[in-house]
Amino acid sequence: MADRDVLSKFNFTREMLAGPIYRKYEKAIRKVWSVEDLDFTQDALDWHRVTPEQQKGLLGVTVRFLAGEQSVTDELVPMLAAAHALRRFDWTMFLSTFLMEEAKHAEFFMRWHEKVVGILEPEEVAAHFLVRGKTIDPSGRFQVRDVMYEALPHYGGLLMAATQGGSEAEIERAFVQFSAAYNGFVEGVLTMPSYEIVIDSTAAWNAFPTLHRGFKLILADEGRHITFGTEACRILIAKDPSYEEAVHEVFDAYRGNIVGLVEYQKAVPGLDLGKYQTMKVRHYRNRCREMGVTADETLVEQILDPTIDFVVGVEAG
Ligand SMILES: [Fe+2]
Ligand SMILES: [Fe+2]
Repeated sequence: MADRDVLSKFNFTREMLAGPIYRKYEKAIRKVWSVEDLDFTQDALDWHRVTPEQQKGLLGVTVRFLAGEQSVTDELVPMLAAAHALRRFDWTMFLSTFLMEEAKHAEFFMRWHEKVVGILEPEEVAAHFLVRGKTIDPSGRFQVRDVMYEALPHYGGLLMAATQGGSEAEIERAFVQFSAAYNGFVEGVLTMPSYEIVIDSTAAWNAFPTLHRGFKLILADEGRHITFGTEACRILIAKDPSYEEAVHEVFDAYRGNIVGLVEYQKAVPGLDLGKYQTMKVRHYRNRCREMGVTADETLVEQILDPTIDFVVGVEAG
């Protein structure tokens, strides 16, 4: 029998190879796609064909995605550190594909803006990033906060701190909280309607085939990111059911962002408004089921309540 020191240098087990996270890693490797293989010619022609209003509306969303993808790439590091601290090498392997994919999503939007719109430098794209005032719920019941630029760095910082000095239970709880915010909330519920709105708009305009294709490829990647996070949460919550509370804390803190309407539901004419609220409920229920937590029925009722119709700025990433 080898001594413990030597054993600790090897991570692979037959149980790991048969497990859901390792299989997700294998799938990610099989599904790798390249931005270089995409042809932006037709999109560039379409850019000059659509109206200035359509250009402005679309650019408002794509520039947000360009910023969002860069931001989620940068915010992923605490999860990698935690996977290492928890000695879960299959999680580290999957996260290496996750990190590469987020960087590639940023690359996709960088190339689309460069080749289709002719903008690339920070000052060129930043000019189209709409800095908006704080979203106010006129009824005063809900607060709308910044999930992408406030929640992710906040929970990521807590996870990083736990990784550096916390007990195993503290790391696990902080992991559940960060993953609930990143994979469950942002990727798993909030951004979903934004992707669909761009896909629906490009289909309705019969334009921008490569933007449409890119969004489909990105969505397939996002599906794996989300289900990695919810599966990791399920594993940890099964180990200690008290972690479920951490999930509800996150969804509670950012409740207003989820019950409000997505900005582009109102900005793009001809879209079916109810579709995207129903979609959020479906995604929320799926995430809860995957994590093995009980859905908050009050939240579901609030998302579907037609009297709650204030508009939240688009989230993208
Ligand atoms: Fe992404
Ligand atoms: Fe993602």
